[in-house]
Amino acid sequence: MEQRATILERTPSRRAMLRGGLAVGAGSITAGLLVPGSAAFAATSTASLSPDDAAILRFLAALEILETDFWQQYNELGGIQDSEVPGGSGSKAYTKDLQVLDADMPQYIHDNTEDEFTHFTFLNAYLASRGAEPVNLDRFRTLPSSQATGAQQIGRLTNLMQLTVDTSWWTRYRSRTKNPDFGDTFPPAVPGLLAGQFPGIPRNDGDLTPAKHLQAIANTAGFHFGTVEQGGTSLYPALAQRVTDVEVLRVVLSIGPTEVMHFQTWSDKAGNAPPLTDPTNGLIFPDLNAPPFGGEDFQTNLIMPEPTIFLSKNLPVCSIVRPTNTQGAATGAVRFFTAMGLFRGQSPRFFSFLRSLATAADAAQRGR
Ligand SMILES: [Fe+2]
Ligand SMILES: [Fe+2]
Repeated sequence: MEQRATILERTPSRRAMLRGGLAVGAGSITAGLLVPGSAAFAATSTASLSPDDAAILRFLAALEILETDFWQQYNELGGIQDSEVPGGSGSKAYTKDLQVLDADMPQYIHDNTEDEFTHFTFLNAYLASRGAEPVNLDRFRTLPSSQATGAQQIGRLTNLMQLTVDTSWWTRYRSRTKNPDFGDTFPPAVPGLLAGQFPGIPRNDGDLTPAKHLQAIANTAGFHFGTVEQGGTSLYPALAQRVTDVEVLRVVLSIGPTEVMHFQTWSDKAGNAPPLTDPTNGLIFPDLNAPPFGGEDFQTNLIMPEPTIFLSKNLPVCSIVRPTNTQGAATGAVRFFTAMGLFRGQSPRFFSFLRSLATAADAAQRGR
């Protein structure tokens, strides 16, 4: 992954693209406006991005780099290591426990990882093609890798070994009367995951036993996947509302729904996590189909969103992504990932850089 990121950095065309973009931008735009439907009209815009649109895309590129970093760690130990997603050699025992949730888990982990890689790579290349600065987080790759057999030993951006996972999305998408955009809150499906720090990958080969401990790690991963991807599901529509350029809107509206596809898949798989108690730390995965759980709020096969209140309680309920409030959406996403423990051990400079990207994205206004 690092190698690929470096190749991207070195791609000589960034400067060339900047020059080319500035040189030909005005020409192609004019041609397009004069002849709607012509090839030029359909071609990629080369006009410079507004600072506001660039700020939104830069923040999204940064988050996609971070997503890629942690998905890569999952793939090295529990996915499929191949030329599409290279790195690592797999942990047989961990992979077997992930497959308790679904036999296809390694494939899905691989495909989600590849998707995130293409998201940040495209966003960065797109930024450059329109005269804006892409995002590079390589200087922050300082966190340790898992010591478990199968993981690469390289510097990481994210920490999957001390996660605090908020699974309240489980009940949020099942509520017919509440919406976080109205200030409502929701109980988590797995309360224990919010009450401590738990690994989503084996930290070392000592984590491969006892059996229920390793299964608890795989279960944690299963719920962590859905937790992250529901975040992306909300973030794209939240930020899209302040995009100005129609092509940038197309970019955001075309990537965002793939996060939804990930979320939907993972919310189905998480429901297959076997109920158990981790004997090493007491973490409980409850039976979500039995009292005091069960029913509309917890039953594991109720993975389609329930309709709920949207915009105004005077309007009919609607099946929607939630939340989608645009105000503070980027800084909210940083808070969400930070609270999850994903950046435990990162430097103050990392946090201030990420905050500056989020603040710029949240200051962006539509039409400016
Ligand atoms: Fe993504
Ligand atoms: Fe994602």
